Amino acid sequence: MRDSGEFDVSSALLDWYDRHARAMPWRVAPADRAAGVMPDPYRVWLSEVMLQQTTVAAVRDYFMRFTNRWPTVQALAAAPDDQVMGEWAGLGYYARARNLLKCARVVADDYNSQFPDTYDALLKLPGIGPYTAAAISAIAFDRPETVLDGNVERVMARLYDIHDPLPGSKPLLKSKATVLTPVTRPGDYAQAVMDLGATICTPKSPACGICPVRDPCASRVAGTQAELPRKSPKKPKPTRYGHVYIAQGDNGALLLERRPDKGLLGGMLGWPGSEWTDAPAEVPPFPSDWQVLPSEVRHTFTHFHLILRIWTATLPADRPQDDLIIMDKHAFRPSDLPTVMRKAYDLWRST
Ligand code: ADE
Repeated sequence: MRDSGEFDVSSALLDWYDRHARAMPWRVAPADRAAGVMPDPYRVWLSEVMLQQTTVAAVRDYFMRFTNRWPTVQALAAAPDDQVMGEWAGLGYYARARNLLKCARVVADDYNSQFPDTYDALLKLPGIGPYTAAAISAIAFDRPETVLDGNVERVMARLYDIHDPLPGSKPLLKSKATVLTPVTRPGDYAQAVMDLGATICTPKSPACGICPVRDPCASRVAGTQAELPRKSPKKPKPTRYGHVYIAQGDNGALLLERRPDKGLLGGMLGWPGSEWTDAPAEVPPFPSDWQVLPSEVRHTFTHFHLILRIWTATLPADRPQDDLIIMDKHAFRPSDLPTVMRKAYDLWRST
């Protein structure tokens, strides 16, 4: 479909994308795409799951490590859970990694390792919501689905000078984005709008002077672009507290736990510790002369700030077995830890 005005926004964005598309390891460049090369749906899916709530810059290296280690959806489906969780460590939102594995296994087992190619079928898979289903069907299969992420919301709010605040304005922004979505090259178009939002129509100081859609942009005419999109005030984040216990044996072995699948950092490796509350009880994993480190770990999750007190002791050789893991120093990779647990480890090592 075309914009009803004289200016053809989608064509302008596609022309701009042909010249300025960012190179990304999961992308097919527009010239190659025009020559008939299709992207690998596995790589598109993996990149889109990684890019949920995470920047392209942060995702790149993770994507390369994942695809070097597991080049196909079959390979990923066959990977042990703890190896996948370890490779994901540091990317955050760990439910994404658990759903990633579930999804790979469903595609391998029920779909003969071929990703389904429609929005509705993709939406049924674990970890694939409306955004990701639209992105995969557009980018991997060139279906005219409308992708609405933060970049696209900002571009639409500015193009149409929409002052209603997010998140309430999402349906209106989506309807604007849907009208612009072309039936030809919808995959390149989806990526063009995202690239425009990431490189030109940026949250601060947008580069309107070099924007391919500056002429029809209503907020540029009104001079309101820097204020858009408006956002409803967020609730302030509470602060919670916790204790973690780092114990090391004389042989270098470390005491760790695998966190339960449900809940924050589910399925990830971490230091044993308390609940995270206003006033957590101290719960050392074994009796010892625990020493507290002079500084604390600070970390921010989506809904709260966390301050962790770190306790250390020597791990006795005869410690009775329970559900904790005694990990040999050669088996321990700090990079397997989620960021908050890695911060605790780094603080301990530096003192
Ligand atoms: N953010 C999420 N998906 C993206 C993509 N395919 N290209 C650019 N930025 C993105």
